[in-house]
Amino acid sequence: MSDSHPALRTYGRIKSRPIKPRQAALLDSLLPQIRVPQQPFDPRTLMPGAQEVWVEIGFGGGEHMAAQAGRHPDTLILGAEPFQNGVASALRHIDEQRLANVRLQDGDARELLAHLPAASAARVFILFPDPWPKARHHKRRLIQADTVAELGRVLTPGGRLRFASDWADYVDWTLARILADPAFRWTAEAAADWRQPPADHVTTRYEEKRLGDCAPVFLDFIRV
Ligand SMILES: C[S@@+](CC[C@H](N)C(=O)[O-])C[C@H]1O[C@@H](n2cnc3c(N)ncnc32)[C@H](O)[C@@H]1O
Repeated sequence: MSDSHPALRTYGRIKSRPIKPRQAALLDSLLPQIRVPQQPFDPRTLMPGAQEVWVEIGFGGGEHMAAQAGRHPDTLILGAEPFQNGVASALRHIDEQRLANVRLQDGDARELLAHLPAASAARVFILFPDPWPKARHHKRRLIQADTVAELGRVLTPGGRLRFASDWADYVDWTLARILADPAFRWTAEAAADWRQPPADHVTTRYEEKRLGDCAPVFLDFIRV
């Protein structure tokens, strides 16, 4: 049985301080050009010739997404984030770095996942998702059995899922739910594999704040 309620919000506020005029202008001009379709779509049609499609869920200010897009110009990166100030910040990075390989869902990533075909993404990143540490809020965590099943549907066989958190209980929660799904295998062989940032990791803004109750933990899984 699913342990989640799909209608529940997994995020907190969607707007904080006023958005700077330049970023507000990008929300009006650039976002409509790079917003993902709001119905089922084949991501490869968004960037013909893309070698791979990657997804970042909850990209925050977009630093990791932009850095990965810059490193991998032949990869199409689909980012989802409902926090408007984060979307505005990501648009600034995309504009300044002239990234042509990023498309955005300015809303819930679960809608984006639902619109993607099976086996269409080679990588998914979920970096420092909202921890919802209180027990009565655990049902709001992004990682739930049905989201894990959806990630398994969308990832290609051999594709990779990266989860990072600095909340020990959320790490345990995630490991239990992902390893309960036979579609996934955890790649770790030694403690260093989850204690040290992976070689291709880009430090995120939230990670730097060290707001959790443990050092950052990185879990890499393979879609078998
Ligand atoms: C703690 S922040 C971390 C942001 C960024 N990954 C970082 O490490 O700096 C978690 C982010 O996930 C976003 N988020 C939460 N639920 C989401 C969902 N269902 N779809 C997309 N983003 C979501 C929140 O709005 C928030 O910006």
